[in-house]
Amino acid sequence: MTIYARIRLLLLVAFLSSGTSVAQEPPAQTSSSLKAKFGARFTVGVALGGRVPDDYSAAEQKLILQQFGSVTPENCMKMTELQPREGEFRFERADALVAFAQRHRLQVVGHTLIWAKDERTPAWVFRDGEKLASRELVLERLRTHVRTVVSRFRGRVHSWDVVNEALDDGETDLRPSRWLSIVGPEFIAEAFACARDADPDVLLVYNDYNVEQPRKREKLMRLIRELRAKNVPLGAIGIQGHWEVDRVPFRDIEALIGATKEFGLKMMVSELDLGVVPRGRWWADGGKHRAEMAKTDPLSGGCPPELLQRQASQYAELFRLFTAHSNAIGRVTFWNLHDGRSWLNTFPWKHAEYPLLFDRSAAPKPAFWAVMEVK
Ligand code: XIL
Repeated sequence: MTIYARIRLLLLVAFLSSGTSVAQEPPAQTSSSLKAKFGARFTVGVALGGRVPDDYSAAEQKLILQQFGSVTPENCMKMTELQPREGEFRFERADALVAFAQRHRLQVVGHTLIWAKDERTPAWVFRDGEKLASRELVLERLRTHVRTVVSRFRGRVHSWDVVNEALDDGETDLRPSRWLSIVGPEFIAEAFACARDADPDVLLVYNDYNVEQPRKREKLMRLIRELRAKNVPLGAIGIQGHWEVDRVPFRDIEALIGATKEFGLKMMVSELDLGVVPRGRWWADGGKHRAEMAKTDPLSGGCPPELLQRQASQYAELFRLFTAHSNAIGRVTFWNLHDGRSWLNTFPWKHAEYPLLFDRSAAPKPAFWAVMEVK
């Protein structure tokens, strides 16, 4: 029995004999590993931001290598970063991340070739001097970008998020964007076909958020059917998984897993985090609560232990669900390493967040222990 297992046993005995609850004091460091525990069921991954590995401390790098089998660049493979101006490719950060992954035998998830939102696409893509670019020109730019990027990393990237967030949250199936209005819905099939041309073996993924919600799930199913009918080389579906404690849609997630399984497609949970500060109101009522919400920072002093416990049991429930359907899940990736590095500290407004399994000092939280207890 390891020393930690012994400490936990002693704590359990103390708890049972005292009849009162004792504060659980898990060790600050751990030798338990997510990838060792879940690796045979699905790959466990992490998104890394900034410059990898240099922007991560030695302790953080150790944690990355101990816990995860796959890395996703949080930003440095996006079009805005890789090709900020037409023809000016900047591969330095992406190259560094891929080299780090190769050194340590980590899988790389390429994220993302086409992000189907105007504000996430460099403006030059849709311009031709003073005019709006023609369909042919945008298509040519799409092809050049996808081919250049995919062929550079051919054989070193395990899967590509080919198209990200193309489905609409409102009435229409596809999100209104210049990709859609200039090229038409074919931009999706084109991106997949070019990616396949450039790398015959890489797994090609369609990635989106809220696709577990029934209405958006229906849109996703229609999209899959259309892509299938056109022989588009779609290999898997990515569901982002930016959920919130007390609002995790377990049943919808399970229904989506079942639906993608019927298509013979694996599901990737591509950007998992469980925020503790509710943010739904930010998007409600035409955004009229934003000014008021932007002033709030309810957990700046820390996250209450009971909230961390609820987060722990909901993370465990999720991993029980993933385990029950592990034949349909290819990978579960956390959206960054620890709470201090989560994008939710600044999205959609600046406030302290605690959405991951490790705290700001990279120590395991109750959620980590709860996930490690999953059978
Ligand atoms: C986010 C990053 O985490 C932030 O650092 C960046 O400022 C914006 O993008 N869906 C996605 C990810 O597919 O690429 C987003 O990542 C989070 C939402």
